[in-house]
Amino acid sequence: MAKIDMCDVEPGMVLAADLKAWDGRLLLRKGIRLTPEHRKIMMTWGVVEADIEGISENDVDAKRTARIDPAVLEAADRLTRERFIHVELEHEVIRRLFEICVLRKAHEISKGAHPDSLEQMFDQSADLNQNPFTENTATKIKPHELIKSKIKLPSLPVIFNQITEAINDPRSSATQVASIIEKDSSLSARLLKIVNSAFYGFPSRIDNISRAVAIIGTRELSSLALGISALEVFQDIPSDLIDMKSFWKHNIACGTIARIISSYHNNTITERFFLAGLLHDIGRLIMFRFYPLEAKEALLRARRTNSLLRETEEKVMGFDHALIGGILLKQWKLPVVLETSVAHHHTPKASQPRLEHAVVHLSDIITNGLGIGTSGEQFVPPLDTRAWEEIGLPVGIVSATINQADAHIAATIQIFFPNE
Ligand SMILES: [Fe+2]
Ligand SMILES: [Fe+2]
Repeated sequence: MAKIDMCDVEPGMVLAADLKAWDGRLLLRKGIRLTPEHRKIMMTWGVVEADIEGISENDVDAKRTARIDPAVLEAADRLTRERFIHVELEHEVIRRLFEICVLRKAHEISKGAHPDSLEQMFDQSADLNQNPFTENTATKIKPHELIKSKIKLPSLPVIFNQITEAINDPRSSATQVASIIEKDSSLSARLLKIVNSAFYGFPSRIDNISRAVAIIGTRELSSLALGISALEVFQDIPSDLIDMKSFWKHNIACGTIARIISSYHNNTITERFFLAGLLHDIGRLIMFRFYPLEAKEALLRARRTNSLLRETEEKVMGFDHALIGGILLKQWKLPVVLETSVAHHHTPKASQPRLEHAVVHLSDIITNGLGIGTSGEQFVPPLDTRAWEEIGLPVGIVSATINQADAHIAATIQIFFPNE
């Protein structure tokens, strides 16, 4: 008997244990031979794994890899392993993520994609050799200089603060929120384009902000407005440091994955998880803009020494991007939980355990594993096992989330980069 991910569960298999929904409700009894109808029930109830009779984990692995050329599989394993050197492959979540990443890499190679090694991958993403950097003995910068406003952090457009204030004010109505947004015609136009995109799939066209607010809600609309504003604030980062599109892809993917994972918990505000993921590495943009030499040194040194970029940032500058991101969000007066989720996305156990911190932490790990865009990190960051415990979901959530994430990520990238 083995726990099988939903994507591997097939009609004809026999349940080895009662199958229950999240709320404990009995869905299907032990001993039932599964039909396509049962599978539908399982999907509807958000079941991510099931105990199946007579099947071992090895059987499942063998089935997954049966049709893949062993040479391709070996290349995929080697390339994936390169990115997993800083994590514990024995941990159930990391092992599952690793297996999925190997299979995806093998499919990429089979489809003719060139199996990039780490070095090739990063040579393409940003040309660090464009302006040869002389090894710098950077004087450690104090992050508190930022707090003391020695450096002027970029501010969000005024309109965004007005929207946030209106949403947080219990006396304001959806109509008032809509009238604030309508004052900014370019933001309104982009938001309308978004709500009319395939992602939301509304049958008829939404042609004004009041209707958009009524249909998708003030919170969802404001999180989209914040996403658009944040993207526009950082448009002048030199492309020799980072490929901005790749940077936002990584952050959009992390936000989308965080939103999906949070949806498995009842009563969570999923937009908040999306925003925390969307902004989690934003501190890197501050580094690239205000400390370009040091940021570049950190990137080069991390690659040369096969180290985690976050740890190298600390060595070079004395602080990491997560801390700076938290400071920026504090200045933007975003909710404290967003600020702390960003500040602790690599160190969730350093903060009070909160679901948001843990989910963003895991989502970043999954995103790095899948290699969707990059914010400069070349490796999968280590998992804090306490964060995994805090999330409290079965390991099947990893493949269930990844299966749902692909289409959502593609649609969300389209939302933020409509002209691509
Ligand atoms: Fe990060
Ligand atoms: Fe990240």
